[in-house]
This record gives sequence, C-alpha cells and structure tokens, in this order.
Amino acid sequence: MADDSLSVTDNRTGHAYEIPIADGAIRATELRKIRVDDDDFGLMSYDPAFLNTASCRSAVTFIDGDVGILRYRGYPIEQLADGSTYLETAYLLLFGDLPTRDERDAWVDEITHHTFVHESMKRLMEAFRYDAHPMGMFVSAVAALSTFYPEAADVDDAENRLLQTKRLIAKVPTLAAWAYRHNRGLPYVYPDNDLGFTGNFLSMMFRMAETRFEPDPVLERALEVLFVLHADHEQNCSANAMRSIGSSKVDPYSALAGAAAALYGPLHGGANEAVLRMLAEIGDVRRVPEYVERAKAGEFRLMGFGHRVYKNYDPRARIIKDTADAVFEVTGRNPLLDVALELERIALEDEYFVSRKLYPNVDFYSGLIYEALGLPTAMFPVMFAIPRTAGWLAQWLEGIVDPEQKIARPRQLFVGEDERDYVPVGDRALRELAAV
Ligand SMILES: CC(C)(COP(=O)(O)OP(=O)(O)OC[C@H]1O[C@@H](n2cnc3c(N)ncnc32)[C@H](O)[C@@H]1OP(=O)(O)O)[C@@H](O)C(=O)NCCC(=O)NCCS
Repeated sequence: MADDSLSVTDNRTGHAYEIPIADGAIRATELRKIRVDDDDFGLMSYDPAFLNTASCRSAVTFIDGDVGILRYRGYPIEQLADGSTYLETAYLLLFGDLPTRDERDAWVDEITHHTFVHESMKRLMEAFRYDAHPMGMFVSAVAALSTFYPEAADVDDAENRLLQTKRLIAKVPTLAAWAYRHNRGLPYVYPDNDLGFTGNFLSMMFRMAETRFEPDPVLERALEVLFVLHADHEQNCSANAMRSIGSSKVDPYSALAGAAAALYGPLHGGANEAVLRMLAEIGDVRRVPEYVERAKAGEFRLMGFGHRVYKNYDPRARIIKDTADAVFEVTGRNPLLDVALELERIALEDEYFVSRKLYPNVDFYSGLIYEALGLPTAMFPVMFAIPRTAGWLAQWLEGIVDPEQKIARPRQLFVGEDERDYVPVGDRALRELAAV
C-alpha cells in the first residue's frame, strides 16, 4: 500500500481500491473505477459550486483563506500594493516574474500604444440608451472587440495570444471610461499616451475643456493600489468562467466578455455597489444596531461581509482601508464612512458574525473610495473589471497551454423523469406545474 494513496472500500460490493494522492488531491476520474457491475458508469463526486474541487493546476495566485494570505506569483499582496504598479503587477501575473527595468519600460510602452479603439466602437457605445448600465455596455463592448480582431481566433499561436493580451489590457480602460461618459451624456475622451495607466484612465473619465488633464497624484496612486489588489484572485466565479469559456478555444475577447458578465452579479463584482446601497439605506450610525439584528434574523445579508475562501480576514480589505484614508484627504470625507466603520465595529464583536467567520471583504471599502472619486455606483463593477482583466488573461493563458485541459464539461446527477411516452395535447390531465 503506497503512503501517498487513499484506500477505499465500496460497501456495496466489498471491493477495495487504492487511489493515488498527489498534491493533496485525488483525481476524480480515479473514482470511475469504483463500480457495482460492468454496466455501472462508475462513482462520481458531487460538488455543486465547486466547494472542494480543484479544476486546474495553477501557478498564478495563492490564497490561504484561513490565515488571510494572498500572493501573486509568490509575492505578498501587501508588498505589491506598497511598491508595485498595476501594469507591473499585470506583467508579473502574465509572465510569472517581475520585469527588469527595461522589460517594464517596454511593456508599459506597448500597453500605452494599444489604448486606442476603433472609431466604430464609439458608434457601438452611442447605440446604447442614455441610462444603460455601464457594465452591460462594457461586457458588450469587450465582446464586440473580437469582431475587430478576427485573427484573435487563432488561440494556439503564442505570439497572437500575446498581442491580444496586450490589446485587452490596454483597451478595457478606454471602453470603461466611454461607458461612463455615455451615461453622463459627455463626449468621449481619447487616451492621453503621456499619462500613466491610471492617470490616463482618470483623464478619459473626467477631462472636460482643459487642454491637458492633470491627474491628482494621490488619486492616481490610490487607483494603482486598488487595481493591484483587484488584479487576480485565483479560481473565483469569473476566473472559472474565463477558463471554462476559453476551454472551447474561442477568442479571448469573447471569453473575457463572459468572465466580465460573471463579475456583474451581486455576489461577485456587484457587491461593492450593493455595499453602497446598503450604507445609504442605513443612512445613520444610530440605525446600525437595528440593521445588524435584521441581518442576523436572516432578512438579508450584510453586503461586503463574508467570503468563500477568507475565513480570517480579507488581506485586501486592510490595505483598502488605508487607501480610503488617503483618498478622503483629497476628496473630503465620505459621510457614509461613519456608517461603514460602525457596521464593521458592531459586526466584528457580534457572536453571529464571529462564529461564522464573517469579516469585511475587499468590496466593503472599495465602493466608498469609488464614490469619493465621483463615480456612480453602477460604475463599480466596471472598476473591478479593468484590473481583473490581467488576472483573467493570466488564468486563460495558463489554461490554454495546459496539456491536461480539455473543453470544460461537468457531469450531472440526473434526477428527472425516466423515459415516458408523449401524450397528445387533448389527452393531458389538468395539473399544477411548478416553474423550473
Ligand atoms: C461571499 C458569500 C457569497 C460567501 O458565501 P458562502 O461561502 O457560500 O457562505 P454561506 O452562504 O454558506 O454562509 C455561511 C453562513 O454565514 C451566513 N452569511 C454569509 N454571509 C453573510 C452576510 N454577508 N451577512 C449575514 N450572514 C451571512 C449565512 O447565512 C450562513 O449562515 P448559516 O450557517 O446560519 O446558514 C457570502 O458571504 C455573501 O453573500 N456575502 C455578501 C455578498 C458579498 O459581499 N460578496 C462579495 C464577495 S468578494
């Protein structure tokens, strides 16, 4: 019997099996050998929402949720947030190591020179209603990019993959800013290649009649930090969507539009929007205790609290709190900050939240910063999607070249009707059908 193996006895048959263990996991396909007879398909594992299933081998991001660790390619998130920039972090995620000075300069230069989008993208944006949700516009615009770069379909060509990767990282801020400008009825602002990644983004968002937009260095840096923190988060819902869609070998623009759509949901990238709505609904610090009680009674969840993997503290939440302080120095204090601080204080002391290991997550404070920057809540998931583009692409690239990966295709436990005969409409009995 090998040390690194699992011995299993199937009590239905009395047969014993040896299943190898590698990297702390068994291969689910090994279970297929466990059968009651030759007609049996074999044992499967049932894992709705992938609670205990590794879907890939990855060297990109490491999380230890129990102790609140997040590392990109081995580098602690705290050090990256402190010393790195978003584009340097994107390089790290994509290529596996920090660039040398020359590599970094060449990378920044290339990204900067891919920031423009085809003029037709403007007409695509204009086709949306004045009040279209910017995330819906963003998802559509990213998908539309694939039609401008049909060569992106050749995902087996490494050079081609790299070109589309650069294009995507460079163009998503332009699309995001234009979605915002459309909402506000403002003219679209072209990229300014003399500015840095976040400075240019602020320019495309907020520039008005001035000939030269001068981004505030504190806000520019705060945005860099937020972008570094949001750049990747291993196998979350949208990364899984990116890998899963990418496994069909569709072009990266289409896959990334799918990943961004996954991010749109309130349990994922939409959470910071929900946090702000919640804080506004509470409105006053005096109403916090009552609100917490209602959350405990199961009426609703406290938005920005809890995380599938962090059961200690979200390390990003701590950094973001410091960033918020720096931003408020420039923009003035967000009145909802007091509500947020009180909510955090009460929840962190309450047995309900402590016993369930529910702590503020990254979204709890990011919404307050975005609001202080003057962004409407609808833009919050878009602000998440811009930096996460680097993570999605790193995950996608890793999946594409992984010889073990095939088209993603989960199994199901079929629980429906057995075979039955079609009944002509006139012969069917009246009965209540539950909506499915
Ligand atoms: C993030 C989230 C989806 C993770 O969910 P999960 O790991 O599947 O955890 P569960 O839904 O199993 O919750 C475990 C328990 O904590 C409670 N819980 C989880 N999050 C809660 C919250 N934000 N407020 C109040 N109770 C919460 C659940 O009701 C459940 O309680 P029970 O054991 O008495 O039934 C969940 O915490 C949530 O909905 N948070 C709010 C949305 C959010 O901020 N999302 C951003 C993620 S970055």
